[in-house]
Amino acid sequence: MASSSSFSDQYLQLFFSLLAFALSAFIFFLAQKRTSKPRLNLPPGPRGWPVVGNLFQVARSGKHFFEYIEDIRQIYGPIFTLQMGSRTMIILSGADLIHEALIKRGPAFASRPAENPTRIIFSSNKFSVNAAVYGSLWRSLRRNMVENMLSSTRLKEFRDVRKNAMDKLVQRIRTDAAANGGAVWVLKNARFAVFCILLAMCFGLEMDEESVEKMDQVLKTVLITVDPRIDDFLPILRPFFSKQRKRAMEVRTEQIEFVVQFINRRKKALQNPGSDITATSFSYLDTLFDLKVDGRKSSPTDAELVTLCSEFLNGGTDTTATTIEWGIAELITNPNIQKKLHEEIKQLVGDRKVDESDIEKLPYLQAVVKELLRRHPPTYFSLTHSAIEATKLAGYDIPMEANVEVYLAGISNDPKLWKNPEKFEPERFMSGEEEVDMTGIKGMKMIPFGVGRRICPGLGMATIHVHLMLARLVQEFEWSSYPPNSKLDFTKKYEFTVVMKNSLRAIATDRA
Ligand code: HEM
Repeated sequence: MASSSSFSDQYLQLFFSLLAFALSAFIFFLAQKRTSKPRLNLPPGPRGWPVVGNLFQVARSGKHFFEYIEDIRQIYGPIFTLQMGSRTMIILSGADLIHEALIKRGPAFASRPAENPTRIIFSSNKFSVNAAVYGSLWRSLRRNMVENMLSSTRLKEFRDVRKNAMDKLVQRIRTDAAANGGAVWVLKNARFAVFCILLAMCFGLEMDEESVEKMDQVLKTVLITVDPRIDDFLPILRPFFSKQRKRAMEVRTEQIEFVVQFINRRKKALQNPGSDITATSFSYLDTLFDLKVDGRKSSPTDAELVTLCSEFLNGGTDTTATTIEWGIAELITNPNIQKKLHEEIKQLVGDRKVDESDIEKLPYLQAVVKELLRRHPPTYFSLTHSAIEATKLAGYDIPMEANVEVYLAGISNDPKLWKNPEKFEPERFMSGEEEVDMTGIKGMKMIPFGVGRRICPGLGMATIHVHLMLARLVQEFEWSSYPPNSKLDFTKKYEFTVVMKNSLRAIATDRA
């Protein structure tokens, strides 16, 4: 998922030119602050400037936000504050503190903070699982998603959808490789495959390739539009962003117009059974049409349905595809691991295609996937949390309006918790030496899906997708670097998730 804590580099230029203006307002603001707010004992953090707080330091560091956090947590420890303009960000990066906040005191930190105006529009005023504040609306939406769509029984109903998507993925890679001297783009192909699965589950319809591409483009534009802007941190600058607000409204209209076509197609297919031969017997949309949420009599509007469907598609696409990209990169860099994985599949599955029911019989595959999610969690932060009311943590004040950011990657790469954390070593999970519980309940050593009330509801489905895709890709192809014998560059960059800076192009040699 895209974390709202990311700070968009592209606004750097604008930031500097607007800084002078922001500073001129500082005396006024400072005076206001002194008179109207009680002094809080916030967690420590780097000293900031008046009005802009630490925005300046973060922007000038020239680093991605997650890299900046990695650096300063070495100084300030497991809980610290960054004042990002008007936003107070409290960053938690210690396993014990995260356990206390999100598990022991579950509901206390299970809410989401106020949204900026753009996000309010795209979330239909927080009418989605990820954006809803902790309360009855969130409970209704989440329960519906988990029980009616993501339960293990429901997931089984989409087994054929996954199988077809995997067959098509293998075929696409074969065709791409044949046309390009063996070279294929890994992220792009993995993304397409998982997106097709989620589309089929969401709308219960088959879409032609052109519609899939268009849907992808529409949703990507939405993600770019809701990325934080400088005026989200310094609301006094809002008057200067009227053009961007107008553009956001246009993007929202385009999104609704495009997605509603498929909502209507599904409605028609349900009203006239047999009229659309691609219609599946069940879809996420079906659970939403008549959904009654606590405290509301009416069913979701079209705009709300668009928000809920977009959330379903966005939640599982980039996250899953990112894991596959890092996975193939690690297998190329560690040919012995690739070989061992292929041998396990050959021995235990034989010549037939790996099926999802094989996963539980493939311990090395499971170890590779665990190690992947440990070493390369797709999102370095959870979504932004907030306290349901002003509270304390580790003796510090946590105001209700503060953005509480949970730095997930800090745990799974912590040398106090892991031996050689920088090494990619699935064997650590084979010897029985390491036991992990990704829900964090039985120990907090890696939490790529977050923990507590807001833990990712897609955990079960996502892990099926990653295991199955990786197993099929290794069963069908031997992976090596492109250009041949080159060394892969493991530099990261933030693009909704933490992906490889140079998108991975690799040689896929058909094993057949
Ligand atoms: C490898 C794949 C995935 C990873 C690593 C991942 C990770 C995460 C993380 C870290 C959170 C934030 C938890 C928090 O705020 O504390 C989250 C929330 C969420 N994820 Fe995922 N996710 C993945 C796949 C999926 C899939 C497949 C879906 C559904 C189709 C999904 C839907 C959601 C939703 C709806 C939320 C918001 C939950 C809430 O606020 O109650 N995710 N995910």
